[in-house]
Amino acid sequence: MKKVLVTGGTGYIGSHTVVELLNAGREVIIIDNFSNSKPEVLEKIKQITGKDVKFYNIDYLNREEVEKVFEENEIESVINFAGYKAVGESVKEPLKYYHNNVSGAIILLETMQKYNVKKFIFSSSATVYGAQGNGKCVETMKRGETTNPYGTTKSMIEKILEDMYLADNSWNIAILRYFNPVGAHESGLIGEDPQGIPNNLMPFIMKVANKEIPQLNIFGNDYKETEDGTCARDFIHVVDLAIGHIKMLEKLDKENSGIFVYNLGTGKPYTVQQMVDTFIKVNNIDVPYKYAERRDGDLPVLYSDPTKAKQELGWVATRTLEDMCRDSWNYVLKGKWVNEKCFNCIKRLKNWRDWKISNYINQIFKRKWIWHYTCFRRKRRRIIKKSR
Ligand code: UD1
Repeated sequence: MKKVLVTGGTGYIGSHTVVELLNAGREVIIIDNFSNSKPEVLEKIKQITGKDVKFYNIDYLNREEVEKVFEENEIESVINFAGYKAVGESVKEPLKYYHNNVSGAIILLETMQKYNVKKFIFSSSATVYGAQGNGKCVETMKRGETTNPYGTTKSMIEKILEDMYLADNSWNIAILRYFNPVGAHESGLIGEDPQGIPNNLMPFIMKVANKEIPQLNIFGNDYKETEDGTCARDFIHVVDLAIGHIKMLEKLDKENSGIFVYNLGTGKPYTVQQMVDTFIKVNNIDVPYKYAERRDGDLPVLYSDPTKAKQELGWVATRTLEDMCRDSWNYVLKGKWVNEKCFNCIKRLKNWRDWKISNYINQIFKRKWIWHYTCFRRKRRRIIKKSR
């Protein structure tokens, strides 16, 4: 069977898409270097789907290794998720972002060209629209001014793809512009797992609810453009987003060639306040928050017009804001997330002990004894004693 190569397939959106690809009966090969993900994700994908995925632990900047993957497999299409995505970091380290995201994409595309593989899906972002009009984004709009190097890499790669298609119209390319992906797989086995202090809203809410961060700052509550004064975004469940890729691949299968651009969003903006209130209500958990200054570069409202994807791909996001909040928290409860505070107190331990301890922490979370910190400490002492 012809295979789909997924770069960055153990990451947040990548892993959910791999699950949907496998569910749709596709054969998948992942390449990833775990720069922002963990090897356990591979086991979880197998647990959810009952299917195997061929995996290469390589950096997509390494041309020889990427070529080897094409050499060893009959690849028919490529979905490119690999890339750095922290907006703030990209401002501080622009070269790191341009090198990894843009050079990586170029190496991948050159390799595809060499092996005559021309079906390509690129994970782009609504950030390429910049600030235009009233915040509603339609694919016919021009790309706007990006506000950070991360966004610029997305815009640059879109332009590269357009130029590539102009030069050789046998390419079959899709550009998918994501809005704000949140939520997790309903199994709670995979989800978003940011390291350290997150930047995006949902991981921040999750860390506050999990008592790893004392409170959430809501950046600005005096925006005139929204009903409650907080910013509004088009939050989309990551599983809906993943399914969008399957629909896109089916469309590319039918087309011989072309370059296609689609928004993947719900078309319904919700405010930050509505998101926080819904999270508190559906999960029955406290999320302390305060209103803070506006964050630089934030647009008051940003949402998609998803009509084109509905008409041409037959794709519509069906999961609600409640689903997004419930599934995000379920991912924390199911034990994938380990309270980093707990980890800090065991950092002194030698590596070989860590495995036992992290296993134990996972057990605690599985049984939902989340706040059983005392018990955890007792058990920790026992493990240390035993291992002496
Ligand atoms: C950002 C990126 C976008 C990227 C997206 C990933 C830009 C300008 N934005 O979008 O490219 O695709 O992340 O999901 O490049 N908020 C708070 N408190 C917090 C965190 C966020 O109030 O602690 C608010 C923000 O002010 C914003 C909203 O929540 O109004 C959403 O923020 P965020 O999750 O960071 O996404 P975007 O800025 O929309």
